[in-house]
Amino acid sequence: ALCGCLCPLRMYAPMEGLLTALLVVFGMAVAFASIPRITWEHKEVQLVHFHEPNIYNYSALLLSEDTDTLYIGAREAVFAVNALNISQKQHEVYWKVSEDKQAKCAEKGKSKQTECLNYIRVLQPLSATALYVCGTNAFQPVCDHLNLTSFEFLGKNEDGKGRCPFDPAHSYTSIMVDGELYSGTSYNFLGSEPIISRNSSHSPLRTEYAIPWLNEPSFVFADVIRKSSDSTDGEDDKVYFFFTEVSVEYEFMFRVLLPRIARVCKGDQGGLRTLQKKWTSFLKARLICSRQDSGLVFNVLRDVFVLRAPGLDPVFYGLFTPQLNNVGLSAVCAYDLSTVEEVFSQGKYMQSATVEQSHTKWVRYNGPVPTPRPGACIDREVRAANYTSSLNLPDKTLQFVKDHPLMDDSVTPIDNRPKLVKKDVNYTQIVVDRTQALDGTIYDVMFISTDRGVLHKAVNLESDVHIIEETQLFQGPEPVQTLLLSSKKGKRFIYAGSNLGVVQVPLAFCGEHSTCADCVLARDPYCAWSRQTDACVTLQETEDPSSQLIQEMSGDVSSCPDKTKESCRQHFFKYGSTVELKCFQKSNLAQVFWKFQNSVLKVESPKYGLVDGKNLLIFNLSEGDSGVYLCLSEEQVRNKMVSRVVAKHVLEVKHILPRPELPTLPAVQTEGSWIVPKVLAASIPGSPPPTPAVEVSSPRAVTPAPRPVTPAPRPTPTSMSCETKIVINTAPHPLPEKTMYLSSSDNRLLMSLFLLFFVFFLCLFLYNCYQGYLPGHCLKFRSALLFGKKKPKSDCCDREQSLKETLVEPGSFSQQNGEQPKPAQDTGYETEQDTITSKVPTDREDSQRIDDLSARDRPFDVKCELKFADSDADGD
Ligand SMILES: *[C@@H]1O[C@H](CO)[C@@H](O)[C@H](O)[C@H]1NC(C)=O
Ligand SMILES: *[C@@H]1O[C@H](CO)[C@@H](O)[C@H](O)[C@H]1NC(C)=O
Ligand SMILES: *[C@@H]1O[C@H](CO)[C@@H](O)[C@H](O)[C@H]1NC(C)=O
Repeated sequence: ALCGCLCPLRMYAPMEGLLTALLVVFGMAVAFASIPRITWEHKEVQLVHFHEPNIYNYSALLLSEDTDTLYIGAREAVFAVNALNISQKQHEVYWKVSEDKQAKCAEKGKSKQTECLNYIRVLQPLSATALYVCGTNAFQPVCDHLNLTSFEFLGKNEDGKGRCPFDPAHSYTSIMVDGELYSGTSYNFLGSEPIISRNSSHSPLRTEYAIPWLNEPSFVFADVIRKSSDSTDGEDDKVYFFFTEVSVEYEFMFRVLLPRIARVCKGDQGGLRTLQKKWTSFLKARLICSRQDSGLVFNVLRDVFVLRAPGLDPVFYGLFTPQLNNVGLSAVCAYDLSTVEEVFSQGKYMQSATVEQSHTKWVRYNGPVPTPRPGACIDREVRAANYTSSLNLPDKTLQFVKDHPLMDDSVTPIDNRPKLVKKDVNYTQIVVDRTQALDGTIYDVMFISTDRGVLHKAVNLESDVHIIEETQLFQGPEPVQTLLLSSKKGKRFIYAGSNLGVVQVPLAFCGEHSTCADCVLARDPYCAWSRQTDACVTLQETEDPSSQLIQEMSGDVSSCPDKTKESCRQHFFKYGSTVELKCFQKSNLAQVFWKFQNSVLKVESPKYGLVDGKNLLIFNLSEGDSGVYLCLSEEQVRNKMVSRVVAKHVLEVKHILPRPELPTLPAVQTEGSWIVPKVLAASIPGSPPPTPAVEVSSPRAVTPAPRPVTPAPRPTPTSMSCETKIVINTAPHPLPEKTMYLSSSDNRLLMSLFLLFFVFFLCLFLYNCYQGYLPGHCLKFRSALLFGKKKPKSDCCDREQSLKETLVEPGSFSQQNGEQPKPAQDTGYETEQDTITSKVPTDREDSQRIDDLSARDRPFDVKCELKFADSDADGD
């Protein structure tokens, strides 16, 4: 059976690679792009949203850069919003399906609630004052003009057949070129007749309805490439269509899909007799996107973006997946326009040949090609030969192009390999921006959305791909269906449409990087550190002179200004409790480790633990834990390891005997017995030098001086600015309930509880065994007891079970190393700090300190001078 599956493969060499990708790619040594360096949760960054209640499927976006207006086509509605703040709606118009149309649609077996509605599919500029809009209109596609002044439909009621699909689930693409709509979609109710057409009053054209022209295509994108202004050969504007279709050239057990690029000439008028009202310039070719070294072939096209920049020939960026994508693979390939044009203007054609009576095979055509060249646009040379229009092209040429629309040569990507290959993600849409870094280097930044509402931002740095960041665009995992990039100078955005709404995203989140090192290590060509403002700024928006900016795309942080004053956070905790020390490290690529008294902590030990891979937990605090804790991060940047101190905590553990007046304080008896004696906190930093530290680090700490309770003068702002929190343990009694069972003196209670459970469990086990609920040895044991009345049947089943597990294993492949690392969010674990913050008495005198506390999530917000002797570890 295996041979039956693999043997035909040998016959078609190009198929081999294709199939490798179709089959599951296990254990392949492919350099996939690594995970995004930074994850922005939905709430973490500021995004602007637009959605209207009870309106869904925001699938069509159109940006008018002149008026800063974004037009949004949704289900049964079109909106105009402010492009600079899409939450500001300017106009709206509804376009509902009439009752009888809906009833007719439902009669044909379509769903009244989901399908028999008007989905806007075409939203194109018609003139300065009107848009051309088409909708599915309950399986009776219709087009209309939308007046932008009154924001009302003119009621033209044009037949939308061939411009807009009947079924909202069918693929479509369209582009307005000089007032004529070029579209690729299906022409009938069933969606079985594909068409690429031009809607034009004087010369409507369409494709032949024939398999060699279009074979079950799934349309992805269309755009016009204008002839270059300095052209001398009188060339024509060309419209390119991108789609995936069932291949005719590869035959296999199942339908092999292939990505295609097709093009037609704007000046095409159709043939006079042959190809009447049909394209005479329709040619298509295969797009190649594969990794030769690994045999990975990406043969399903998902989206295309045309990158245009001054002084640059347009570049086509294509987003691909393999046909069977159970492991979530995606790739981006880029194609030069010149490569594409060469294939169409000089490439070989394919020809169908009949083998064994009825079977046809597509092979390279090596015979003579008629002149003018079939499928070529009418240019100066053709005109010189007296062919001024496609209408007077010779029949020979027209017949040839009718039979040979497919090129044998394929379009190969730039550098002959993908720009990016990513695992564990299904990309849906792509836009690309060309930007200039501070040093003048040009970068093409790719913004790619996923089927789970995430936007990746990737850039090629030297030979490898760096995914700068990922942003969760929506609250839930919504598939992103449309991406649009504004190209105007100034404040620029990406607009993403989904079923539930539209979101506006800036190109960079530079302001989120709070230190120079963070800003530089992001390696984001849009961001630079400003010495002037001491902030990470967006390069295109800043006024700062470039001499005051730091940007190192190599990730070299050495030019960052030294932090003269070490920032730190200082805590006081009670004896025997657990503490979580935070480390604000956004990079998913960095390795975090902790140092205490200059030695690296082993976090697997029972004493320590890590939360989210970065915050340190210290259990069962004792005096020995007082001291300086450093959170260090190590990150591989190119071939270098960059390590730096991310956070510094000074910890002091207090062990204070109960004092008679303490229990009368209201705070003492609260849950967890936190005492937050503000007087005490204030007094320590303000008190004369080093006594408190000595107290703590020495055994004498058990009997501290009563001094702190006396009201002390308000501390100076500098000493206050470090987050000082004191928690006193009124040890040895009364212990708070939640820690009671863990203290050694109460082990007896724990033991008896444990014994009780053990006996209970044993009883349960014996009973179940007796009843025969438990398999395996237990049954053997039981049957031995019951004189072998029943035979244990477990062995075979056990093996089956393990077999199942082995089979399941490959599936887990797609889950491991997920592209969306778990949010570095609150784990619900309430830290001591949290508790304290909420319980600090609101004394006016100390309100400032409370403010400081609430700002604790930014470790570098405050600077402090260490006033304790136990912090002397910090000196080195
Ligand atoms: C329209 O949006 C709804 C709501 O999210 C979704 O269930 C449906 O699949 C969408 N329909 C199409 C055709 O996109
Ligand atoms: C083009 O047509 C003109 C006039 O009909 C004729 O004189 C000329 O020879 C033709 N040129 C070619 C290249 O056929
Ligand atoms: C990608 O899509 C495929 C098919 O829809 C699905 O099986 C797979 O789980 C998806 N992978 C990811 C990472 O979303």
